[in-house]
Amino acid sequence: MAKIALIVGSVRRDRQGIKVARWMEEKLRIRNHMVFFIDPLELNLPLLDRMYKEMTEPSEKMKSLRSKINDAEGYLAVTPEYNRSTSSAMKNTLDYFLEEYFFKPSAIVSYSPGMFGGINASQQLRLIFAELGAPSISSSFTISRVNKVFGEDGKLMDEAYDKRVLKFLEEFEWYIAAFKTQRDKGTPY
Ligand SMILES: Cc1cc2nc3c(=O)[nH]c(=O)nc-3n(C[C@H](O)[C@H](O)[C@H](O)COP(=O)(O)O)c2cc1C
Repeated sequence: MAKIALIVGSVRRDRQGIKVARWMEEKLRIRNHMVFFIDPLELNLPLLDRMYKEMTEPSEKMKSLRSKINDAEGYLAVTPEYNRSTSSAMKNTLDYFLEEYFFKPSAIVSYSPGMFGGINASQQLRLIFAELGAPSISSSFTISRVNKVFGEDGKLMDEAYDKRVLKFLEEFEWYIAAFKTQRDKGTPY
């Protein structure tokens, strides 16, 4: 069992991403993980002014968000693709923190209504996680034609995804455990 921060990347009012995020949350919970569900829409996160560490009097909301990012042993990002990149909401959420991510792995789920499943966004997001000190696992999990894979009610319509996601999560769990073993021995900084 691990503590995993699941970060939602869309704040659009009719976002597809929330269905993907809720489905992933369920998959993680079934595998006994503790999920910190981070939704920038729910949090109503403003565009970054001060990073958390620069805030003199962080709000309770920010303190709670910081605890989740800091306590997480891995980050699972659910990103849309906007103009061949991840979303500004995802980047903005991540930018509030830095050291909190160090030496913990990330895994990226992307989706789009097209056939490429947001792979460009996923590749861009890898670079960001590398900079944050939370390198991404080798596999990417992409969901093409997201509006067909999930029904209006958020129910998974294509059961092949239930199978496909298992290997991805097993790989993520491997990295979480490996990084934890090394963190327990100490980190370079
Ligand atoms: C500003 C904007 C740019 C987009 N650019 C892309 C793109 O580059 N590639 C793509 O596959 N879909 C693109 N789309 C379509 C989105 O993938 C689609 O709207 C998806 O539902 C977005 O996720 P969301 O509903 O969770 O916000 C774009 C949508 C928006 C609003």
